[in-house]
Amino acid sequence: MKNKGGGLENLIRDMLKKHKSPIMLIRKDILLGQFEQFRRYLPNVRPYYAIKANPNPDVIKTFVKLGSCFDVASAAEMDYVLSLGASPGDIIFANTIKSAEDLEQAHKKKVKFMTFDNESELYKIARYCPNARVLCRIKVDNVGSTVELSLKFGADADQAIFLLKKAKSLGLRPLGVAFHVGSQCVNVKNYVNALKVTSSIFEESKRVGLHLKVVDIGGGFPIRHFDDDNHVTFRDMASQLRKYMKKLFEKDVEFIAEPGRFFVGPAGVLVTQVIGRTFRNNKNYYYLNDGVYADFSGMIFDHCRYEFKTLRRGQKFLSALAGPTCDSLDTLSLNEDLPEMDVGNVVYVKNIGAYSSASAVPNFNGFKPAQTLFI
Ligand SMILES: Cc1ncc(COP(=O)(O)O)c(C=O)c1O
Repeated sequence: MKNKGGGLENLIRDMLKKHKSPIMLIRKDILLGQFEQFRRYLPNVRPYYAIKANPNPDVIKTFVKLGSCFDVASAAEMDYVLSLGASPGDIIFANTIKSAEDLEQAHKKKVKFMTFDNESELYKIARYCPNARVLCRIKVDNVGSTVELSLKFGADADQAIFLLKKAKSLGLRPLGVAFHVGSQCVNVKNYVNALKVTSSIFEESKRVGLHLKVVDIGGGFPIRHFDDDNHVTFRDMASQLRKYMKKLFEKDVEFIAEPGRFFVGPAGVLVTQVIGRTFRNNKNYYYLNDGVYADFSGMIFDHCRYEFKTLRRGQKFLSALAGPTCDSLDTLSLNEDLPEMDVGNVVYVKNIGAYSSASAVPNFNGFKPAQTLFI
């Protein structure tokens, strides 16, 4: 849908005439724009959308239509993207720890491309998913990334050759190396160092007769959560990546990536309303109809901070924002500069399409998460 009203704030007003808040607006034009940017600046990298960021069916169907591939973390996610039109050959099962049941299901559904990071997993994959094509995920620098992923995943790089050889000896097809520099990575060096380590694994692999040909550069691509964020842009980051991919790898090496936040984060706008107000601790306190148990769950699980905006204008006062539940953890901010508001006024947040609704609790205290409107 086109926003004829001119500007996001008019769109929000229009939406509130027809729908009850809280509302998670997912803007299709922005999804398309993010995908297009990715393809434009990293034309040699095939994207596998990490659906954990936002599994909304319309989001997935949009990416199916655009020809994206998909990163799934479980058999349930796998079945779900297949049911929405993805092909088994366009899926990577990119959780390095998979249950036997999930592996059996992957085998049944002909999803044969996956990551691993330890020897014991290889035995499991070989047993339940014989012939799988596997990438060894290595531990890489996550310096400065908002969400550290190398704390839990990734083999030491010096184990990669051993593990890939082991995969081969078990009848699997070792194709290459995967890494993740941490989510919301604003430090290009993490990618550059990871590519360097990966290229030395590729060099060594030739000496031991392994023919590696795939590098999975993971996710991590950053977005702006605040209007004045001035970290590296995707475009500049991509130009560095292109340079090192070209310099460090032979021409026939294939690159793939697993973007989550970058594809869907900027498309999301969360629209909430004030349901109560008071004056406490020398500031205005506003209670909203959405909180950390629902669509602001990214404040906990994604370590994310958001820019809260209102439709009100005028002098600003020190304010606190809290969610609707009976828990003080459900406090969104104690330190916002906001115009005076009353019950019914709108507080909205942009760039909140990733790791928000996805991790919302369905009904804590009886409060439902926002309805998603795909527009
Ligand atoms: C294996 C894997 N791939 C991709 C992603 C998506 O990362 P991002 O949203 O930073 O692009 C994640 C995020 O946790 C992940 O764990």
